[in-house]
Amino acid sequence: MEIKNDLLLRAARGEKTERTPVWVMRQAGRILKEYREVRGKLSGFIALVQNPDLAAEVTIQPVDILGVDAAIIFSDILVIPEAMGLPYTMEEGKGPRFPQTVKNEADLARLNIASEDSLGYVIEAIKVTKRELHGRVPLIGFAGAPWTIFCYMVEGKGSKTFSLARKTLYNDPAFAHKLMDKITESTINYLKSQIAAGADIVQIFDSWAGILPNSQYEEFSLRYIARIADAITEVPVIVFAKGAYASRRAIGAINCNVVGLDWNMDIEESRHLVGTDKTLQGNLDPAVLYADFETVKSETRKMIDQFGTFRHIANLGHGVYPDMEADKVKCFIDEVKAYSSSRH
Ligand code: CP3
Repeated sequence: MEIKNDLLLRAARGEKTERTPVWVMRQAGRILKEYREVRGKLSGFIALVQNPDLAAEVTIQPVDILGVDAAIIFSDILVIPEAMGLPYTMEEGKGPRFPQTVKNEADLARLNIASEDSLGYVIEAIKVTKRELHGRVPLIGFAGAPWTIFCYMVEGKGSKTFSLARKTLYNDPAFAHKLMDKITESTINYLKSQIAAGADIVQIFDSWAGILPNSQYEEFSLRYIARIADAITEVPVIVFAKGAYASRRAIGAINCNVVGLDWNMDIEESRHLVGTDKTLQGNLDPAVLYADFETVKSETRKMIDQFGTFRHIANLGHGVYPDMEADKVKCFIDEVKAYSSSRH
């Protein structure tokens, strides 16, 4: 089906747009009371992720309520470890927990390469979403980067340091590469299935990029992201590697269309490092949305001025925090639309 508002796709490909497209990482979620209502009908987050009709409903909510230029499928990066054989739970206020982790060769050998069979609920949610969106805006598919997924599979939960995962890189790099390899193959299968079901563009989230030194980042993370980007030829690819300051030039050299910036990444410097044949995405400090409406607007205009009108997709520098007011998020979105229209 033809997409009516295809600003995001055109900006990703480097084509001219009438204004800057905008969406928000974590737009579908707890900031919306409509999300909390749907979520409250079920036993929890995982039940919602696994219910295609309700997952589609919460995916579309930000399009209707916030006016974003894209929907992102409601799911989680942790569905990949689960499909590989490590089930997870999501504890309120505590985050994800994996009862089993990958500790040795035997654990590694037991892991599956994920395929569409074990992720059918996401694929179904994408099909329902596409049907219900009626081509209003593009649908973003996503997956975690292999390094970020590795962190959870080795550590079993969130961590400030991910020391167990980092220890593995120094003590048994060959083992780390074997696990990374299985995650990468699973991720390629998964993203290809998302695209076959209707995802119009995909984003790879490397949320824990920033904890690795540059040399290790390129060996243990970027190399695998590059393999995924090479494999995805059907739709544009966005790479968001939070905190990967020293690797921006290297990220600019991989086969992706869009490079996501976090809020600490200087815009001009990033443009210089990444080059002009990529679109940049980001990067308003999410905490700006705690400020008053006037400040949200002026900071948004400042950001638009810094990026200019060439190859930019507006977003926050990381996901919106659950305690933020939906009206502030909408103020950011409305200001991107109004101000960038006047500048294009
Ligand atoms: O709107 C969207 O962006 C789509 C949905 C989405 C979720 N998670 C839903 C979610 C996306 C793209 C993710 C990605 C994700 N999940 C990342 C990468 C992006 C990032 O923020 O860096 C990571 C690291 C995860 C892992 C994860 N999922 C954690 C650590 C947590 C617990 C922390 C928290 O925010 O509560 C989750 C849970 C989660 N994923 C929620 C949502 C809406 C909250 C659960 C709930 O509603 O109870």
